[in-house]
Order: sequence, then structure tokens, then C-alpha cells
Amino acid sequence: MTALAQAAVLMRRRPRVAVLTGAGISVESGIPDFRSAQGLWSRYDPAEYATLWAFRRDPHRVWRMLAEMIQVVDAARPNPAHQALARMERAGVVKGVVTQNIDGLHQAAGSREVLEFHGNCRSLSCLECGRRYTREEAAVLGVPPPCGCGALLKPDIVFFGETISERALEDSRELAAHCDIILVVGTSAEVAPANQMPWIARQHGATVVELNLEPTCLTDSVTDIFVPGPAATTLHELAEEVLGTVTSHE
Ligand code: APR
Repeated sequence: MTALAQAAVLMRRRPRVAVLTGAGISVESGIPDFRSAQGLWSRYDPAEYATLWAFRRDPHRVWRMLAEMIQVVDAARPNPAHQALARMERAGVVKGVVTQNIDGLHQAAGSREVLEFHGNCRSLSCLECGRRYTREEAAVLGVPPPCGCGALLKPDIVFFGETISERALEDSRELAAHCDIILVVGTSAEVAPANQMPWIARQHGATVVELNLEPTCLTDSVTDIFVPGPAATTLHELAEEVLGTVTSHE
């Protein structure tokens, strides 16, 4: 029995499924991930472009990366992996998605229980005066968008050196602690505290199913079932198997 078929059999039996996603789930929507060979960090040093300190020191420079990232995200559409999770949520199998991504593609695919662990680009804030702007309000101010107080606005995404909201931490731990299965999709699991979710789930008796192109630091430590391959294919097939629209290969 393939790893995918094993995961499907389990998910049909114990349908309280939590999901953790990373940049890999959106690669097939045209958004590069961070740490693969062609990832964003191969072109921009995260220490120079993705820390709060770097933004405070030289916001214009950081905005060169942000402008490119936002342009790519705006052009992206959900792929079959995002759609598969939304279908499984509608079918009552997926209870919630915790995503490290800021692209909004889970919601665009129809998922409703989505926790954006690293924020999103739908609003921007001023680090000096604290004023918050919607994307639309900031869009007419130019790139990079200045706040009324003169400082440059920063998208409400979590930079290295910023803390994850207490609420997001709480809710993600709750989801992980009360699931039977956690799907870990397209993440290198290099970044805490998001990468704690599979461990919390496992400590509470859940099965950890990892879907990735290649093994990660989780694979030989906490993963029970590793499903290799591109998420747009594997997650789509998994949803088909679980929701029964194809004959199962049990
Ligand atoms: N299908 C499945 N997995 C894929 C695919 C794909 N088509 N393409 C890439 N991957 C996998 C890679 O093998 C890798 O394990 O997705 C993972 C992407 O890892 P990262 O680039 O490290 O992205 P992520 O895990 O989301 O990074 C976490 O780090 O830089 C910060 O804030 C940023 O949210 C990000 C966090």
C-alpha cells in the first residue's frame, strides 16, 4: 500500500485533521519558496531583508524585496493543493489550516478555518506612529507607501525578530492538541514556533503525515507517513481518495 493510500485509509477512519502548510504548497501557484535552490533566500539574504532590524535600518532596501514578493503574490491563484484542503474542510474532514504563508491562497480556494501564523499583506502598519492602512488605502500612496507621519509603511507580515501573536500561538496549539491526524504540507519546518505543531500533535496521540518533495528535519523524527511529490498532485489525490470520488487502492 502506498504512503498516500495509507494516509487516506486513516483519514477516512479518524477525520479530525489539522493542517500545517508552508511555502511549498504555493510553489505550483507561481510563488517561489524560501529555502529551495531557486527560493527567495537564494536571491535576498533574510538577515538583510526579512528582519525587523533590517526594515528599521533601511526600509527602502527591504521594500525592493517586498514589492517583488507582493507582485508575485497578487498574480497567484490557488492550485489543486489549496482546493483539496478546502474540499476536505467542506466535507468535515479538515478542521483547520495553520499556514506560514502570507499569500491568502487558502482563503481564495474556499478554506474558512485558516490561521495566518506569519500574518498577511491585506494591511500595512507604521512602526513609528502605529497607524494601520488597508492594501487599498496604501496602494494609492505609491511604492514604498509612506505613512501620513512620514515613515514608510510595513506590510503586516511577521518578520524575523517579531513575535507571533499570543492568540495565534494559542489557537494553533489547540488545533494540534485536538486532532487525530496532522498534515504537514510543503514546509522545511526550519522556523519556530510553527514547526512545533507536528510535535504537539504527536504528543497528543495524532498521526503525522508529511507531504513534501523531499525529506525534512521532521521526516526521520516525528513523521509517521511521508508522501513524496508535488503537493498539487499528492494533496489532490489524497482528497480524491478520502472523499471517495475514485476507487480506493486499499
Ligand atoms: N510540493 C510540496 N513541497 C514543496 C513543493 C511542492 N511543489 N515545492 C517546495 N516544497 C517544499 C520544499 O522541499 C521545502 O521543504 O516546501 C518546503 C519549503 O520550505 P521553505 O522554503 O523553508 O518555506 P517554509 O517552510 O514555509 O518557511 C517557513 O520561513 O522564511 C520564513 O517566514 C518565512 O514562512 C516562512 C518560514
